[in-house]
Amino acid sequence: MDLIFLGYPGSGKGTQAKYLSDSYGIPQISTGDILRDAVAKKTQLGLEAKKYMDSGDLVPDGVVIGLVEERIQEQDAVKGFILDGFPRTIAQAIELDELLEKHVRSITAVISLEVLKEDVIERLTSRRICTNCRRVYNLVYDPPPADGVCNQCKKTGTIVQRKDDEVETVERRLTVYNIQTLPLKDFYQKQGKLVLINGSQSILDVRSEIESKLRNIKG
Ligand code: AP5
Repeated sequence: MDLIFLGYPGSGKGTQAKYLSDSYGIPQISTGDILRDAVAKKTQLGLEAKKYMDSGDLVPDGVVIGLVEERIQEQDAVKGFILDGFPRTIAQAIELDELLEKHVRSITAVISLEVLKEDVIERLTSRRICTNCRRVYNLVYDPPPADGVCNQCKKTGTIVQRKDDEVETVERRLTVYNIQTLPLKDFYQKQGKLVLINGSQSILDVRSEIESKLRNIKG
């Protein structure tokens, strides 16, 4: 299965992509994670991407498309992949279709997590992440341990708020989403690939709805 997750920042794409990756044994490919790694390592790509990410804007299409093109040709993605955070513009979606066609494959389904703007603002401003193992916490219902030791990788002092999860940047990210990414729903609807999911349910209920709808789709 070649899957795409669409949805507002904070709609739960990363959370659900990880579950599906474990269930189906195919990689979760998060352009946000790839870019954050590059920023942390201060590579040329990271230095270029940082200014866009910190302000809540999209990194230029050409940069991101090149990254995805390389990643989906790796061995672990031969049987399928789950794109989390890509495509985010019509230009990226067109390039992706052309790229997959060259490799005689195509997107199986596009899972769109439907969540209200007010809910994602709350989720994002209360999110904390471990920069070492990427474990995601939430101050409201899954808070980080008080001693600051990540309960997944056992490192100390690595749990932080993402810079782009500060409230002003979240507002900008949502505006950018509405202008540049929302048109993708129509794009994939026309291809008959859009699968709408109620992303406002509990994490486990969202997971069940996705898995049940995917069972009806031929991989
Ligand atoms: P990226 O890292 O992709 O961020 P995003 O799309 O804004 O998504 P998030 O990671 O913020 O949210 P999510 O939907 O994965 O939610 P999560 O599961 O963590 O991109 C960051 C930046 O990189 C962009 O702004 C851009 O600059 C650049 N970039 C990346 N891709 C690009 C591209 N293709 N082109 C150009 N630039 C690109 O959940 C959020 C919180 O909610 C967590 O605390 C979680 O525990 C909680 N939660 C999840 N589900 C539920 C639920 N059902 N109920 C209650 N809480 C929940």
